[in-house]
Amino acid sequence: MSESSNLPVALEQIAAQFPVLAQRVHDAPLAYLDNAATTQMPQSVLAAMNGFEQHDRANIHRGVHTLSQRATDAYENARTSVKRFVGADSSHELIFTSGTTEALNMVAQGLSVSDGAPAVIRPGDEIIVSGLEHHANLVPWQQAARRSGATLRFLMPDAEGRVHARDLKSLLSSRTRVFALTACSNATGYRPPYEDLLALAAQAGALTVLDAAQAVGHSALQLSTLACDFMAFSAHKMYGPMGMGALVGRRAALERLVPLRFGGDMVDWVSLDSAGFTGLPARLEGGTPHVAGTIGMAAAAAFITSIGHEPLERHLGALREHAAKGLKGIDGIRVLTPQAGLSAIVSFVADDVHPHDMGTLLDEDGIAVRTGHHCAQPLLDHLGVGPTTRASFAAYNTHDEVERLLAGVSRALKVFR
Ligand code: ALA
Repeated sequence: MSESSNLPVALEQIAAQFPVLAQRVHDAPLAYLDNAATTQMPQSVLAAMNGFEQHDRANIHRGVHTLSQRATDAYENARTSVKRFVGADSSHELIFTSGTTEALNMVAQGLSVSDGAPAVIRPGDEIIVSGLEHHANLVPWQQAARRSGATLRFLMPDAEGRVHARDLKSLLSSRTRVFALTACSNATGYRPPYEDLLALAAQAGALTVLDAAQAVGHSALQLSTLACDFMAFSAHKMYGPMGMGALVGRRAALERLVPLRFGGDMVDWVSLDSAGFTGLPARLEGGTPHVAGTIGMAAAAAFITSIGHEPLERHLGALREHAAKGLKGIDGIRVLTPQAGLSAIVSFVADDVHPHDMGTLLDEDGIAVRTGHHCAQPLLDHLGVGPTTRASFAAYNTHDEVERLLAGVSRALKVFR
């Protein structure tokens, strides 16, 4: 039966583009609700990557032969497409990485190691990180603070899991060197007012870092309008391949990073005891990159653009609202940050049922959700909930699947009571 949505294309037509979705799990149709961990890839992305591997595969930047030139063009065209997709302008540059984690490590390490000149982050400086972050936007900053002698400070959320400008104002000072924030909490789905918070930090003179991993798959990111020096995201959360991501930022800020990877393709000249480094973006892209991945990432961006950010975000917001409302109506369920803003993630805890058991029973119904701490243990500890069950939505999900989730949760509660 056809289901209506806010999307310009029928939901069935979207789902039909994803081969992996056409399967049954435990004899039930697969309802894939683990998209905050990894979205699936449509045919257009698979075809773009296969096309490269079957016809154009060669190493880039190093060959005069036809395949190498085709591969180089495809790689640089992918960079241009992904830059455009996130609203970068001529003052920005994009570095391909293996994902959000590598991109954030590239920034935290690049600002805190010395390559002869003093590091950007120095003893006595302060790094502010929000208490919403997943480990990839926390642990690299812990390491940077240790390495440089800086102090870590935290913008902690309130009891509902929301952060506030007044709290950031009281933390910012002339010592603040970096402010790092997520565009959406992966553990609760809460979308902080990151535009205003980044602007406040930039006004105070801090370098600003946005982890856009949980936003890039549906929110229209307009980097050129943000007070953002560095933005990180992954392809596998936007219908693209795993092991692929990007760091995009102001060229002047990227130039301050000491490279994370030294080696081929990022040098101008090399002698036995020294080397000179080339300019951006190659300076931060040492070694052979995942060329097919960059092509897949650009195709994934085109897939999202073909649907449209606004209808996609409304569709996902409606699924989240449906799920949050239904879950709140079930006796014994607590939804984290119920008013999360436009979001594709709903996280909840159940009296008497451990999330691991909840996830296992839902899997028996063909429903894939994630359970645990979602690599965001400090936030869940702060909210006093421990591990949760998390459902997260993508373009191909339906309100029928939300109803199946609600029925599955009710069944799990009955089984364990
Ligand atoms: N950070 C990913 C998640 O939230 C893996 O599941």
